[in-house]
Amino acid sequence: TASDAAALVDRLTAVVPDFPTPGILFRDVTPVFADAEAFSTVCAGLAEPFEGGFTAVAGIEARGFALAGGIAAQTGTGVLTVRKAGKLPGEVLKESYSLEYGEASIELRPGQLPKGSRVLVADDVLATGGTAEASITLLERAGYEVVGIAVLLELDGLGGRDRLASRVPVHALGSAP
Ligand code: PRP
Repeated sequence: TASDAAALVDRLTAVVPDFPTPGILFRDVTPVFADAEAFSTVCAGLAEPFEGGFTAVAGIEARGFALAGGIAAQTGTGVLTVRKAGKLPGEVLKESYSLEYGEASIELRPGQLPKGSRVLVADDVLATGGTAEASITLLERAGYEVVGIAVLLELDGLGGRDRLASRVPVHALGSAP
C-alpha cells in the first residue's frame, strides 16, 4: 500500500549533507532501488492513484528512469525518457529551467507515442518543481496528456507542489524538510 511505501522511503533514504554543493542536504533514494521488496512496493505505491489511467510512464533523468521502468513493468505500460540536454539523437523538444542548484535543460523525443496518449511522470524527488514543470511542458508539446506526477519524496518549503498542482495531480509517497 501507499503507507507501506512511504514508510520504506522514510527508512531507506539516506540524507547526505553538502552534496552536490555546500549547504544542500541531498536525499539519496538509491537504497530504495537496491532493496527488491522496497522497490516493488514503492513502484506500486507511485502508480496506485493513477492505475489504469496511463499507457506510458515518463522518467526524468536519472533516478526517474529506474522508477519509470519499475512502474511500467508492473502496470503493463511503456517508458519515455526525459533526458538532460544533448543525450538524445534526432528531432528533440527542449525546455530550460532553473534548479535548486543551478540551471539546466531537458529534452524529449517527440513522436514515440500517438498524440493524446496518457502519460504519468515519475521522479525521485520534487524540490522546486522546475524539472517536473519543464517535463510536463515537453510532454504536452509532444501532444500527450499528462495524468499526474508521482515522486518518492517532496521537499517542504520549496514550492514544488504549488507550482505543479494547477497543471496536474501531484502524488508524493513521503515528504522531508
Ligand atoms: C534532481 C531530482 C529531480 C530534480 C528535482 O535531479 O532527481 O529530477 O533534481 O529538483 P527540482 O524540483 O528543483 O527541479 P538532478 O538534477 O540531481 O539530476 P540527476 O537525477 O541526473 O542526478
